[in-house]
Amino acid sequence: MAALQEKKTCSQRMEEFRHYCWNPDTGQMLGRTLSRWVWISLYYVGFYVVMTGLFALCIYTLMRTIDPYTPDYQDQLKSPGVTLRPDVYGEKGLQIFYNVSDNKTWTDLTNMLHKFLAAYSPAAQKANINCPLERYYFQESFDAPNHTKYSCKFPVDTLQNCSGLIDPNFGFEEGKPCFIIKMNRIVNFLPSNSTAPRVDCTFPVSPQEDHNDTPPLEVEYYPPNGTFSLHYFPYYGKKAQPQYRNPLVAAKFLNIPKNTEVVIVCKIIAEYVTFDNPHDPYEGKVEFKLKIQK
Ligand SMILES: *[C@@H]1O[C@H](CO)[C@@H](O)[C@H](O)[C@H]1NC(C)=O
Ligand SMILES: *[C@@H]1O[C@H](CO)[C@@H](O)[C@H](O)[C@H]1NC(C)=O
Ligand SMILES: *[C@@H]1O[C@H](CO)[C@@H](O)[C@H](O)[C@H]1NC(C)=O
Ligand SMILES: *[C@@H]1O[C@H](CO)[C@@H](O)[C@H](O)[C@H]1NC(C)=O
Ligand SMILES: *[C@@H]1O[C@H](CO)[C@@H](O)[C@H](O)[C@H]1NC(C)=O
Ligand SMILES: *[C@@H]1O[C@H](CO)[C@@H](O)[C@H](O)[C@H]1NC(C)=O
Repeated sequence: MAALQEKKTCSQRMEEFRHYCWNPDTGQMLGRTLSRWVWISLYYVGFYVVMTGLFALCIYTLMRTIDPYTPDYQDQLKSPGVTLRPDVYGEKGLQIFYNVSDNKTWTDLTNMLHKFLAAYSPAAQKANINCPLERYYFQESFDAPNHTKYSCKFPVDTLQNCSGLIDPNFGFEEGKPCFIIKMNRIVNFLPSNSTAPRVDCTFPVSPQEDHNDTPPLEVEYYPPNGTFSLHYFPYYGKKAQPQYRNPLVAAKFLNIPKNTEVVIVCKIIAEYVTFDNPHDPYEGKVEFKLKIQK
């Protein structure tokens, strides 16, 4: 009995559905007359045309306001990061350990320096210009080829004993190794009012430790005084200055005690460079461990 009832309602439903699809009495299709369907379609076509138009307008105005020559989004980076070469990381940051008497322990380090400095060879900097003036090199217009701005040469021989040209071992085999300090680029950043930023490397002073139980770190800087010439600033961005080379400073450490782990910190001294950000240990400075065995 129940099955019969069910069958009945089923065929009833089919009939209702057919009636819904096409109702010959009222001329309605899927519950609406043909003319209403046409109106609804037109309404939605118009609606989507307007929406697409608004979206296109938004994209267009956004693209218009973006300057392709400067990054539109720079996170709140006010002070540049500092990097070290050679860079070997241990468990707690940079640590460079080697044995003077075992050249296998330091050829990787000197090869890292050779590789890094290859980008500074005269051949790699053919398109760069000589900048003799020790002041900011502002460029308003795009005078260099292909609508770019000029970039200054950084001749690798300014690093003298740490250039790898005079001493291919960078002083590693004599226990007076060279390290290269690079300041990261920030578009339009001017590090100081008028004095060139300089690198200062020291054994960090811990307050609990008494003075003069270790002699101060002796450093030979290249270029002299460890300065980054002002003519490498401002940096206008990758698109404006595709040939830009970061200026470098090399520090040759002359009195590292042997068979002892020491900590060295190299800071950038400039009016607008800070190195006391607790959240970023590589902002404005680089700290590393060094152990020279003999
Ligand atoms: C340094 O290397 C030499 C030669 O391989 C070796 O005799 C010496 O024990 C090494 N020194 C240390 C502290 O490992
Ligand atoms: C390293 O030392 C070995 C023997 O001590 C020597 O044969 C080799 O030429 C040295 N390599 C370099 C790059 O100085
Ligand atoms: C300018 O751009 C063209 C095409 O991209 C390139 O072949 C040429 O080397 C560029 N010139 C300079 C000076 O960079
Ligand atoms: C740098 O090289 C020159 C010439 O080779 C040498 O006289 C001078 O002592 C070197 N300086 C250091 C710190 O090694
Ligand atoms: C190094 O600094 C001292 C003192 O600031 C200055 O007198 C000297 O001219 C500088 N040397 C070079 C080569 O810039
Ligand atoms: C930089 O120069 C400006 C204007 O000459 C001066 O107001 C400002 O105090 C200087 N800043 C520093 C850190 O010396």
